[in-house]
Amino acid sequence: MPSKLDRDYALELDRADPLGSYRQRFHVPQHEGKDEIYLCGNSLGLQPRSTEQHVREELEDWQRLGVKGHFAGRRPWMPYHEQFAERTARVVGARPVEVVNMNSLTVNLHLMMTSFYRPAGKRRKLLIERGSFPSDRYAVEAQVRLHGLDPDDCLIELTARSGDPFIPTEEIEALLATDGDEIALVMLPGVQYYSGQAFDLRRIAAAAHKAGCKVGFDLAHAVGNLPLQLHDSGADFAVWCNYKYMNSGPGAVAGCFVHERHAKAFDLPRLAGWWGHDKSSRFRMGHEFVPMEGAEGWQLSNPPVLGLAPLLASLEIFDDAGMPALREKSLKLTGYLEHLLKERLAEHIDILTTADPAQRGCQLSLRLHKGRDAARQVFDELEAAGVTGDWREPDVIRVAPVPLYNSYMDVFRFVEILEGLVVE
Ligand SMILES: Cc1ncc(COP(=O)(O)O)c(C=O)c1O
Repeated sequence: MPSKLDRDYALELDRADPLGSYRQRFHVPQHEGKDEIYLCGNSLGLQPRSTEQHVREELEDWQRLGVKGHFAGRRPWMPYHEQFAERTARVVGARPVEVVNMNSLTVNLHLMMTSFYRPAGKRRKLLIERGSFPSDRYAVEAQVRLHGLDPDDCLIELTARSGDPFIPTEEIEALLATDGDEIALVMLPGVQYYSGQAFDLRRIAAAAHKAGCKVGFDLAHAVGNLPLQLHDSGADFAVWCNYKYMNSGPGAVAGCFVHERHAKAFDLPRLAGWWGHDKSSRFRMGHEFVPMEGAEGWQLSNPPVLGLAPLLASLEIFDDAGMPALREKSLKLTGYLEHLLKERLAEHIDILTTADPAQRGCQLSLRLHKGRDAARQVFDELEAAGVTGDWREPDVIRVAPVPLYNSYMDVFRFVEILEGLVVE
C-alpha cells in the first residue's frame, strides 16, 4: 500500500470504494474538459442523471392527459406526494406518517412554529444559537412578534462558554436544566451550517422535554448527510431543504417531520389549507376543516408535481445506496480530507469543524491563517482551478466531500491545488 499522502493511495481507495460507481449517476460540472472538483453539495447537490426523465415524464403526462393526469398519469398527481413518504422516512429514520415534502424550508419552519411555539405565562422564550442561519433567525423573531412579544426579551441565544464555534451538548443540557422553565421552544440545527458541528438530537430533545419545552430542528445540513433517527430522537418537529445533500435542484420542495405523538393532535393550532384536510372527505368541499392524520395534515396546497419529480429521482438513489453505507464512506472520505490537510497544511489552515467524526457530517470548514482578503483570493483561485467549494463571510471556506459522487481523488486533488496556492 502506498503512503497515505501519495496520489496512488487515493487511487487505491477509489478502486476499493463500493459506492464508487454512484458518481456515474450524476452530472458532474465540467472545467476545461474535465470533471470539476465539486465539494459544494452542502450548498447545492449535483443533478442525478435520472432527474431529467422524471421531470419529462410529468411534462409528457400533462401534454397527453391534461387534467386527467391527476388520476390517469403514470404517477397520478392527486396522491403524487404520497409516494415519497416511505422513501423519505427511510432517509431520516422516521415513520411514513411523520414526514411530508412540501413548500420550502423557511415556510415549513413557520408552519411548525405556528403549532409548536405557543408562548404562555412564564414560558415564552425561544432558544436558538447565536450563529443561527439568518433565515431561521428572521423566522423565529417574526413568530415572537406575531405573539405580540419582543425578540429582545424572548430569544435566548446559545453560545459555547469557550467562545468557540463548537457548542458542547452538556452546555445545552445545563442551560435547559436552569432556564428551561421559561423556554417554550428549542430550535436548533442538526448540522450547523458554518462550523459543521452535528448536534445530538436525541440528547437535546430529551433535555428540552424534561424541562417542559417543545423542540424542533432545522436539518438543512443534516438530511442525506448523516443517518438520522428522527422518530427515536423524540423531536416534536424538524424541517429541511432538499437541494443540498438530497440533490433535488435549486429551490427544491422541502421536507417536514412531525412526531407521531402529534399525528392526531387535531386541536394544535395550525395554518390550514385543503391539502391538509382529511383526504377521504376533501372533495366534498365542506366548510369545516378536518385535518389529515400525521405530517400531511400540515399541507396547505396540492403538491407541485414538477417541483417534486427531481426528489423522486434522488430518493431512488438513496434507496439503492442506503444511509449506513453512505455514512461509512463519508467518515472515510472526510477523515481522509482531514488527514491530508493536517499533514500538508497544518501551518497554514485551521479546521473549524470538530475533530470528532461522531459530531460532524461530511463538511469541513477551513480558515486560512493568511487573513480574510488573502483567503478570499485563494478561494477565487481555487474556483479558477476547477474547485467548487463555498465561501462564508467573514473568512471561511466550506468544503463538503459527498459520498454519493465525490471520489478520494477529488479530495487529493483539492488538497494538492490548495497547497499550491497557500504555501509560498
Ligand atoms: C440552515 C439553513 N436554514 C435555512 C435555510 C433557508 O432555506 P430556504 O431558502 O429553502 O427556506 C438554509 C438555506 O441554505 C439553511 O442552510
